[in-house]
Amino acid sequence: MAGRDGITAHYQRTSLAEAMIARLAEHGIERSAITLEHLATLDQMHVRGHEATVELFEALGVAAGMAVLDLGAGIGGPARVLADRFGAQVTALDLTPALCETNRALNELVGLSDRIAVIEGDATELPFEDASFDRVVTIHATMNVDRKRSLYREALRVLRPGGRFGFYDIVAGVAPQPEYPMPWAGSVTHSFLVSPTEMRAIVEEVGFTTRLYQDHDQRLAQPHAAAAGAGSCGQGCG
Ligand SMILES: C[S@@+](CC[C@H](N)C(=O)[O-])C[C@H]1O[C@@H](n2cnc3c(N)ncnc32)[C@H](O)[C@@H]1O
Repeated sequence: MAGRDGITAHYQRTSLAEAMIARLAEHGIERSAITLEHLATLDQMHVRGHEATVELFEALGVAAGMAVLDLGAGIGGPARVLADRFGAQVTALDLTPALCETNRALNELVGLSDRIAVIEGDATELPFEDASFDRVVTIHATMNVDRKRSLYREALRVLRPGGRFGFYDIVAGVAPQPEYPMPWAGSVTHSFLVSPTEMRAIVEEVGFTTRLYQDHDQRLAQPHAAAAGAGSCGQGCG
């Protein structure tokens, strides 16, 4: 299966919220007692989980009341951190319908539905007016995006003057390709890794100025780093 359908098929998991609730119940945590801290052990679909999420949002200076757009939001772990810990008003956009459903169900569970709007859509064609957001973020999603220029251009278009864009992604390493399946793609058909240099060049080419760039290669857990073909993670703020 090619294109977007192949990507959504890779991520499509139904009843994920119920499966997570059942998993927590196995550890003695009942549905009514579930907190964001409990979910944080399960809902961050990226390397270094919750810790990395908080680092990125702190680096971006996310503050209470800001309108923040999360591209490729998955089941909404980072979006809930933005809404709860940083007090942002969040729009969480994702391509995969089942993950959007899970995102909504988990927001409802922890009482954050009024702070997070979940939108099904493609990060390369955003359904938002120009200058709608104070911050745009994306975490571990651009590996699935072939049209990276379109995504970064769209991020710039929807940012207000003085806004910031932050990303945390897996990038190509020194090895030619990782061995698939990888967490983000079953095969190379749906994986579009670029080198950190190329990624920065594209981001700057569309009009961003880099304020901060960090290579987290050394901080990755060894098994993942090896499996990713010595891939490194970049965290950038434009
Ligand atoms: C590895 S998950 C990361 C989810 C989330 N950012 C997190 O860190 O918990 C990648 C997500 O990107 C989404 N995605 C991939 N391509 C996309 C696109 N073109 N537009 C929007 N979402 C996309 C997938 O559906 C998936 O939910």
